[in-house]
Amino acid sequence: MAVKFLKPLADASQFPTPSVTATPKFRLSDLDIAQHTKGDVRETIFTRNGRGAIGIAGTALRKENRKNVILIPAYHCPALVEPFIWLDYEIRFYPVRSDLSIDLNLLEKEISSGDVTHCVVVRYFGFGQNNNDVIQFLHSQPVEIIEDCAHSLFRFVDHFADSGKQVPDVSASICSINKILPTIDGGALYLKHKYEAELTHVGWVEEAKACAFIVGIPQRVAKIKALFKKTEVEPTQHNADPSEEDMHLRYFQPIDLASASYRHTKTIFCHSNLTDIRKQRRDNFEFIVKNIDNPEVGNALFQQLENEDIPYVIPFLLQDEKYFFDLRKKGIQILRWEEVAVSDCSVSQDYRSRLIQIPCHQQLSTSQLNFIVDTFNQLRP
Ligand SMILES: Cc1ncc(COP(=O)(O)O)c(C=O)c1O
Repeated sequence: MAVKFLKPLADASQFPTPSVTATPKFRLSDLDIAQHTKGDVRETIFTRNGRGAIGIAGTALRKENRKNVILIPAYHCPALVEPFIWLDYEIRFYPVRSDLSIDLNLLEKEISSGDVTHCVVVRYFGFGQNNNDVIQFLHSQPVEIIEDCAHSLFRFVDHFADSGKQVPDVSASICSINKILPTIDGGALYLKHKYEAELTHVGWVEEAKACAFIVGIPQRVAKIKALFKKTEVEPTQHNADPSEEDMHLRYFQPIDLASASYRHTKTIFCHSNLTDIRKQRRDNFEFIVKNIDNPEVGNALFQQLENEDIPYVIPFLLQDEKYFFDLRKKGIQILRWEEVAVSDCSVSQDYRSRLIQIPCHQQLSTSQLNFIVDTFNQLRP
């Protein structure tokens, strides 16, 4: 059956420019050239984005001369699903429980149809859920396992870093770099079996322009020009619009399959102080979760961090979706997955409006952390 994504429920243009952004901004001072991200990143393919990495995995793992049927969790963003639509996989959604863990009995039932060839496992928001059990279970099934670490860069890095640690036995693992680190683009892909993805870097002029963008030069020039013209200038949009013919896919562009990340994205990936970032994100999570106390508004989905959890955001379940609008109007860049595909999973259909993502990134200042907490605590039904 064709996948039908639900329409967005809100538009960013309805809200003011956020004072607390969802992701960190580039600061030269955060780079540590003396240190290098542990592990063998030579095993990693650096792609334009996470969806490109997913698409390359889908290409490398596609079965010839038979139908490719993939199981994807019903709670997702379209960017995870669209590459498989483009690659002509048959997509089936499996349900998630209210804590985003997976019911293995239901998953087994899906696989018992006998024609499933692939299964995606998502490590939501940097948390483990019961994904290790899911992967363990899938080992007994004749399916290719694609691990989505889009939110779990640290887990992805750990696959290569600690030789003592058990690397999960998956056919592919992907992550999305610019969700955690201050880069313009970036996906990373690990494939168990060697596959020569032919990726093209942008030219050096384009690379230089992107470097200028990341340190804010064109934005500053635009502001100065605006002062002279006395007109409002829209912030520069760096990404090109999808081409006309691919407009039915909102996020994935086929060119992503052939595009390497910017070269400097890899530099930022390798020279960011991941130890500090891990700690900062965990500390921010604990501060926010401990201090928000307004159950009439909602509760954090997870109250505690397990040892390996490094949050990308704080998933928070609202009692009523109206609070999403209140929070955005106050200038906190709260995100949510509004466009999940239609499925039988009632949790996913409900969470598209009620499960929100609170920023907890490494650059939040003490006053921003207090602002987030106070804003939540001051909301009234
Ligand atoms: C779970 C998940 N997988 C994959 C992706 C795709 O990552 P990217 O935005 O880097 O293409 C996203 C983000 O949109 C995501 O949230």
